[in-house]
Amino acid sequence: MKGIVFTELLEMVEAKFGLEVADAIVQAAHLESEGAYTSVGTYDHKEIFALVAQLEKHSGIDSKMLFQVFGQYLFKKFYQGYPHFFAESMDTFSFLDTIEDHIHVEVLKLYKDAQLPRFDIYRDDKSLRMIYHSDRKMGDFAHGLLLGAIEHFNEPDIVIVQESLSESGDRISFTLTKNA
Ligand code: HEM
Repeated sequence: MKGIVFTELLEMVEAKFGLEVADAIVQAAHLESEGAYTSVGTYDHKEIFALVAQLEKHSGIDSKMLFQVFGQYLFKKFYQGYPHFFAESMDTFSFLDTIEDHIHVEVLKLYKDAQLPRFDIYRDDKSLRMIYHSDRKMGDFAHGLLLGAIEHFNEPDIVIVQESLSESGDRISFTLTKNA
Protein backbone atom coordinates (compact mmCIF):
# COMPACT_ATOMS: atom_id res chain seq x y z
CA MET A 1 0.00 0.00 0.00
CA LYS A 2 1.35 3.43 -0.91
CA GLY A 3 2.58 5.59 1.94
CA ILE A 4 0.12 8.38 1.09
CA VAL A 5 -2.69 6.21 2.49
CA PHE A 6 -0.79 5.78 5.79
CA THR A 7 0.32 9.40 6.12
CA GLU A 8 -3.25 10.55 5.52
CA LEU A 9 -4.62 8.06 8.05
CA LEU A 10 -2.24 9.29 10.74
CA GLU A 11 -3.02 12.91 9.85
CA MET A 12 -6.74 12.22 10.23
CA VAL A 13 -6.20 10.46 13.57
CA GLU A 14 -4.13 13.40 14.78
CA ALA A 15 -6.79 15.90 13.71
CA LYS A 16 -9.76 13.99 15.13
CA PHE A 17 -8.25 12.26 18.20
CA GLY A 18 -5.01 14.16 18.89
CA LEU A 19 -1.29 13.57 18.49
CA GLU A 20 -1.09 11.39 21.59
CA VAL A 21 -3.59 8.90 20.20
CA ALA A 22 -1.78 8.85 16.84
CA ASP A 23 1.54 8.08 18.60
CA ALA A 24 -0.07 5.52 20.90
CA ILE A 25 -1.66 3.48 18.09
CA VAL A 26 1.63 3.45 16.14
CA GLN A 27 3.45 2.13 19.23
CA ALA A 28 0.80 -0.44 20.08
CA ALA A 29 0.55 -1.78 16.52
CA HIS A 30 4.19 -3.05 16.51
CA LEU A 31 4.72 -2.16 12.87
CA GLU A 32 7.59 -3.36 10.73
CA SER A 33 7.84 0.18 9.34
CA GLU A 34 7.66 1.60 12.88
CA GLY A 35 5.20 4.10 11.43
CA ALA A 36 7.93 6.08 9.62
CA TYR A 37 5.91 6.49 6.42
CA THR A 38 6.73 8.65 3.41
CA SER A 39 3.99 9.33 0.88
CA VAL A 40 5.86 7.67 -2.03
CA GLY A 41 7.08 4.65 -0.04
CA THR A 42 5.34 1.27 -0.15
CA TYR A 43 4.35 -0.65 2.97
CA ASP A 44 2.54 -3.84 3.86
CA HIS A 45 -1.21 -3.14 3.59
CA LYS A 46 -1.68 -5.23 6.77
CA GLU A 47 -0.24 -2.29 8.69
CA ILE A 48 -3.41 -0.31 7.94
CA PHE A 49 -5.49 -3.07 9.56
CA ALA A 50 -3.13 -3.10 12.59
CA LEU A 51 -3.44 0.69 12.99
CA VAL A 52 -7.21 0.71 12.62
CA ALA A 53 -7.53 -2.20 15.11
CA GLN A 54 -5.58 -0.17 17.66
CA LEU A 55 -7.68 2.90 16.93
CA GLU A 56 -10.80 0.82 17.53
CA LYS A 57 -9.41 -0.10 20.99
CA HIS A 58 -8.55 3.50 21.79
CA SER A 59 -11.72 5.13 20.53
CA GLY A 60 -14.32 2.41 21.07
CA ILE A 61 -15.49 3.02 17.49
CA ASP A 62 -16.02 -0.08 15.37
CA SER A 63 -13.20 -0.62 12.82
CA LYS A 64 -15.73 -0.95 9.98
CA MET A 65 -16.95 2.56 10.78
CA LEU A 66 -13.38 3.85 11.13
CA PHE A 67 -12.48 2.55 7.65
CA GLN A 68 -15.59 4.24 6.24
CA VAL A 69 -14.84 7.55 7.92
CA PHE A 70 -11.26 7.35 6.67
CA GLY A 71 -12.38 6.59 3.09
CA GLN A 72 -14.73 9.56 3.13
CA TYR A 73 -11.95 11.78 4.51
CA LEU A 74 -9.44 10.53 1.94
CA PHE A 75 -11.80 11.27 -0.94
CA LYS A 76 -11.62 14.97 -0.06
CA LYS A 77 -7.84 14.77 0.14
CA PHE A 78 -7.66 13.06 -3.26
CA TYR A 79 -9.81 15.82 -4.72
CA GLN A 80 -7.56 18.51 -3.23
CA GLY A 81 -4.39 16.71 -4.35
CA TYR A 82 -5.47 15.66 -7.85
CA PRO A 83 -8.24 18.04 -9.03
CA HIS A 84 -7.36 17.34 -12.70
CA PHE A 85 -8.64 13.76 -12.29
CA PHE A 86 -12.16 15.17 -11.81
CA ALA A 87 -13.99 16.72 -14.77
CA GLU A 88 -16.12 19.66 -13.66
CA SER A 89 -19.58 18.70 -14.87
CA MET A 90 -19.56 15.17 -13.48
CA ASP A 91 -22.06 13.57 -11.14
CA THR A 92 -21.54 10.60 -8.82
CA PHE A 93 -22.44 7.88 -11.32
CA SER A 94 -20.45 9.27 -14.24
CA PHE A 95 -17.48 9.81 -11.92
CA LEU A 96 -17.61 6.24 -10.57
CA ASP A 97 -17.84 4.97 -14.15
CA THR A 98 -14.33 6.43 -14.70
CA ILE A 99 -12.58 4.75 -11.75
CA GLU A 100 -11.51 1.62 -13.56
CA ASP A 101 -10.54 3.13 -16.94
CA HIS A 102 -9.36 6.57 -15.89
CA ILE A 103 -8.71 7.39 -12.21
CA HIS A 104 -6.91 4.26 -11.13
CA VAL A 105 -5.10 4.13 -14.51
CA GLU A 106 -3.72 7.63 -13.81
CA VAL A 107 -2.85 6.55 -10.26
CA LEU A 108 -0.75 3.72 -11.73
CA LYS A 109 1.14 6.22 -13.89
CA LEU A 110 1.97 8.28 -10.78
CA TYR A 111 2.77 5.31 -8.55
CA LYS A 112 4.00 2.42 -10.70
CA ASP A 113 3.85 -0.09 -7.84
CA ALA A 114 0.35 0.89 -6.62
CA GLN A 115 -1.84 -2.08 -5.78
CA LEU A 116 -5.35 -1.22 -6.83
CA PRO A 117 -8.64 -3.06 -6.62
CA ARG A 118 -10.61 -4.09 -9.72
CA PHE A 119 -14.19 -2.97 -10.15
CA ASP A 120 -16.78 -4.45 -12.53
CA ILE A 121 -19.37 -1.77 -13.13
CA TYR A 122 -22.99 -2.08 -14.31
CA ARG A 123 -25.03 1.05 -14.77
CA ASP A 124 -28.51 2.25 -15.67
CA ASP A 125 -30.31 5.57 -15.06
CA LYS A 126 -31.31 4.94 -11.45
CA SER A 127 -28.65 2.62 -10.17
CA LEU A 128 -25.02 1.66 -10.44
CA ARG A 129 -23.56 -1.61 -9.25
CA MET A 130 -19.85 -2.01 -8.58
CA ILE A 131 -18.27 -5.36 -7.81
CA TYR A 132 -15.05 -4.87 -5.86
CA HIS A 133 -12.27 -7.43 -6.24
CA SER A 134 -9.10 -7.22 -4.17
CA ASP A 135 -6.92 -9.51 -2.10
CA ARG A 136 -6.45 -6.59 0.28
CA LYS A 137 -10.10 -6.88 1.38
CA MET A 138 -10.63 -3.19 1.96
CA GLY A 139 -14.35 -3.07 1.19
CA ASP A 140 -15.21 -0.82 4.13
CA PHE A 141 -12.61 1.67 2.96
CA ALA A 142 -14.12 1.49 -0.55
CA HIS A 143 -17.55 2.17 1.02
CA GLY A 144 -16.14 5.31 2.65
CA LEU A 145 -14.68 6.52 -0.66
CA LEU A 146 -18.11 6.03 -2.23
CA LEU A 147 -19.68 8.11 0.57
CA GLY A 148 -17.01 10.72 -0.14
CA ALA A 149 -17.99 10.80 -3.82
CA ILE A 150 -21.70 11.20 -2.96
CA GLU A 151 -20.83 14.04 -0.59
CA HIS A 152 -18.53 15.68 -3.13
CA PHE A 153 -21.17 15.67 -5.88
CA ASN A 154 -23.83 16.70 -3.37
CA GLU A 155 -26.24 13.87 -4.14
CA PRO A 156 -27.40 12.81 -0.66
CA ASP A 157 -30.39 10.98 -2.17
CA ILE A 158 -28.08 8.18 -3.34
CA VAL A 159 -28.03 5.18 -0.98
CA ILE A 160 -25.40 2.43 -0.89
CA VAL A 161 -26.10 -1.23 -0.18
CA GLN A 162 -22.98 -3.31 0.54
CA GLU A 163 -23.10 -7.14 0.20
CA SER A 164 -20.26 -9.64 0.63
CA LEU A 165 -19.93 -12.03 -2.29
CA SER A 166 -17.24 -14.14 -0.59
CA GLU A 167 -16.52 -15.09 3.00
CA SER A 168 -13.01 -13.68 2.98
CA GLY A 169 -14.16 -10.21 1.86
CA ASP A 170 -12.19 -10.18 -1.40
CA ARG A 171 -15.39 -9.73 -3.49
CA ILE A 172 -17.99 -7.21 -2.47
CA SER A 173 -20.98 -5.77 -4.28
CA PHE A 174 -21.98 -2.13 -3.85
CA THR A 175 -25.34 -1.08 -5.26
CA LEU A 176 -25.93 2.66 -5.41
CA THR A 177 -29.52 3.76 -6.02
CA LYS A 178 -30.98 7.19 -6.60
CA ASN A 179 -34.04 7.49 -4.42
CA ALA A 180 -35.31 10.86 -5.58
C1 HEM B 1 -15.03 6.57 -5.03
C2 HEM B 1 -13.99 6.35 -5.76
C3 HEM B 1 -12.88 5.37 -5.40
C4 HEM B 1 -12.96 4.11 -4.91
C5 HEM B 1 -14.23 3.31 -4.59
C6 HEM B 1 -11.59 3.63 -4.73
C7 HEM B 1 -11.23 2.43 -4.16
C8 HEM B 1 -9.97 2.11 -3.70
C9 HEM B 1 -9.66 1.06 -2.75
C10 HEM B 1 -10.70 0.16 -2.09
C11 HEM B 1 -8.31 1.07 -2.54
C12 HEM B 1 -7.49 0.17 -1.58
C13 HEM B 1 -6.72 -0.92 -2.27
C14 HEM B 1 -7.53 -2.19 -2.46
O1 HEM B 1 -8.65 -2.33 -1.92
O2 HEM B 1 -7.05 -3.09 -3.18
C15 HEM B 1 -7.78 2.14 -3.36
C16 HEM B 1 -6.46 2.48 -3.41
C17 HEM B 1 -6.00 3.66 -3.93
N1 HEM B 1 -6.72 4.57 -4.68
FE1 HEM B 1 -8.68 4.48 -5.12
N2 HEM B 1 -10.72 4.61 -5.14
C18 HEM B 1 -11.47 5.70 -5.52
C19 HEM B 1 -11.00 6.91 -5.98
C20 HEM B 1 -9.69 7.26 -6.04
C21 HEM B 1 -9.23 8.58 -6.43
C22 HEM B 1 -10.12 9.75 -6.85
C23 HEM B 1 -7.87 8.53 -6.34
C24 HEM B 1 -6.85 9.60 -6.63
C25 HEM B 1 -7.09 10.72 -7.19
C26 HEM B 1 -7.51 7.19 -5.89
C27 HEM B 1 -6.23 6.77 -5.64
C28 HEM B 1 -5.88 5.63 -4.96
C29 HEM B 1 -4.54 5.35 -4.43
C30 HEM B 1 -3.30 6.25 -4.51
C31 HEM B 1 -4.62 4.11 -3.78
C32 HEM B 1 -3.49 3.37 -3.04
C33 HEM B 1 -2.82 2.35 -3.92
C34 HEM B 1 -1.73 1.63 -3.17
O3 HEM B 1 -1.63 1.78 -1.99
O4 HEM B 1 -0.89 0.90 -3.77
N3 HEM B 1 -8.64 6.45 -5.72
N4 HEM B 1 -8.81 2.76 -4.05
